[in-house]
Amino acid sequence: SNNAYEMLNVAEPVDGVQQIQLDRPEALNALTTALLGELSRALDVAEANSHVKVVVLTGSIRAFAAGADVKEMAERDLVGIVNDPRQQSWQRITQFSKPIVAAINGYCLGGGCELAMHADILIAGTDAKFGQPEINLGIIPGAGGTQRLVRAVGKSLGMQMVLTGQPINAEQAKSAGLISEITQPELTLPRAMEVASQIAQKSALAVRLAKECVLKGMDTDLATGLRFERHAFTVLSGTKDRDEGIAAFLEKRKPTFTGQ
Ligand code: HXC
Repeated sequence: SNNAYEMLNVAEPVDGVQQIQLDRPEALNALTTALLGELSRALDVAEANSHVKVVVLTGSIRAFAAGADVKEMAERDLVGIVNDPRQQSWQRITQFSKPIVAAINGYCLGGGCELAMHADILIAGTDAKFGQPEINLGIIPGAGGTQRLVRAVGKSLGMQMVLTGQPINAEQAKSAGLISEITQPELTLPRAMEVASQIAQKSALAVRLAKECVLKGMDTDLATGLRFERHAFTVLSGTKDRDEGIAAFLEKRKPTFTGQ
């Protein structure tokens, strides 16, 4: 782990997978400006590092993250919120081009749930709790909770969560489509690493464009999304990885992708 960070454990990439662990146990990983800033810096480094193909983002067994840091929020007035430096960190996470797999246990609330929804694939332990409790503080979600949550779980459940502040458990999150898999808590991280390493062995260019296409499609009408997919598909026909992938299939061997 790299001690350039105070509230993160950032591992060296192993076979293309880099693990980033939120590590502020005294506050259940509540997201201060500083913590989000560190995460954003770690993602900058991961973006530029060709040895990183996929990031696995996790917290602790007790909490992925219990929200924005309420103590810090208490000190911020309207002008402070308008000039909130965390916006840049959220942008950084949004624009990360490589897949992020979140391994979630325990509390995943408020800004923590919003952070989890920035991930591309969410895998959670049986004891995970997802919620947007901001309404209990007289505010509303501020990092996509009214938008990404409803896109993930649909209007009625999303509205219910945002308006009542009541969390849902892992089973509900799975059946609503917020997460893709449920595991025993101690297996969440290993399973996320396994999914990440499957992805890390693919063509990095194809992975990048596939992620872009899926996200684009969630954000636009079908015709525009299909056009975007067609362009990406066409671009990939010019890669060495495509030649390698097809040749390996025909020769009945495993492909070796180089990202070219
Ligand atoms: C700051 C927090 C925190 C938070 C927990 N802690 N959540 N500190 N901000 N969001 C701190 C507690 O103050 C406490 O420290 C320590 O973590 C352990 O928490 P406890 O409350 O003692 O644990 P427990 O009784 O098990 O209850 C867990 C909990 C509860 C149900 C998760 O902590 C809770 O309700 N937290 C707040 C959840 C919340 O409202 N999140 C949304 C925030 S608003 P001390 O030192 O006091 O003992 C938000 C807006 C997003 O996220 C906007 C976009 C960025």
